[in-house]
Amino acid sequence: MNLRLKRRRLYEGKAKVLFEGPEPGTLVQYFKDDATAGNGAKKGTITGKGVLNNRISEYLMTKLGEIGVPTHFMRRLNMREQLIRKVEIIPIEVVIRNIVAGSLSKRLGIAEGTVLPRSIVEFYYKKDELGDPMVSDEHITAFGWAHPHELEEIMSLALRINDYLSGLFLGIGLKLVDFKLEFGRIWDEEGNMRIILADEISPDNCRLWDVRTNEKMDKDRFRRDLGKVEEAYQEVAKRLGILQEFPTPDIVPGSSSDTGGKAS
Ligand code: TMP
Repeated sequence: MNLRLKRRRLYEGKAKVLFEGPEPGTLVQYFKDDATAGNGAKKGTITGKGVLNNRISEYLMTKLGEIGVPTHFMRRLNMREQLIRKVEIIPIEVVIRNIVAGSLSKRLGIAEGTVLPRSIVEFYYKKDELGDPMVSDEHITAFGWAHPHELEEIMSLALRINDYLSGLFLGIGLKLVDFKLEFGRIWDEEGNMRIILADEISPDNCRLWDVRTNEKMDKDRFRRDLGKVEEAYQEVAKRLGILQEFPTPDIVPGSSSDTGGKAS
């Protein structure tokens, strides 16, 4: 008998849907195959992307958890869904760059591939209507999007995550060129607030270049019509050692009945 219950849909973004979770303080994060670029100007589908990003993000968040980085990830529920902690999202996209690419290259006219003398952290205000404008720490604290001590914690976590992930990806022959993180607030029973890593880490929001060939292994293949998009995501999963056969039927969004079982 199919015991799947339809969960309440709380939010639908470009690549993910959030449903209410089985317990208070939890959510179910569903990964879609939909892809957008240029703030929604370009739309498409990358077959199997949701399944791969669910696995890749699970793997990377678990690894980060093991080195003491607090994350929203609790467990994977099925091929496209994971159980996460509900957080109050801080409306800032944190971009960490190691090598010049993308908007930094365009904005400052510096050749893509230029290695930065040190990692650069940038902030963007999450506001689709405005195209997520770049902001400084002054804007963030002046407008109350985050307190100075929260921003300090975010910076420190972002650099730690960058150091760890740069090494992890280098170990599988990939350069972590740049990536985007999002953070949120949670409160414990005593009312103490903590900043934790939220959203996802996947080839949707990382630039990954092959160490030997500089071939792009991320969403830039979709953004720039380079072809072999699905293959690039699969290759990243394969190198991480998490690519398996996915023979089971697809999951209906928000239909998971998980209340504590093992990830499938
Ligand atoms: P950018 O070069 O276009 O500013 O992107 C920097 C990094 O941030 C790149 O790895 C892609 C990621 N990113 C997102 O995940 N979401 C976004 O909306 C943008 C603009 C960038």
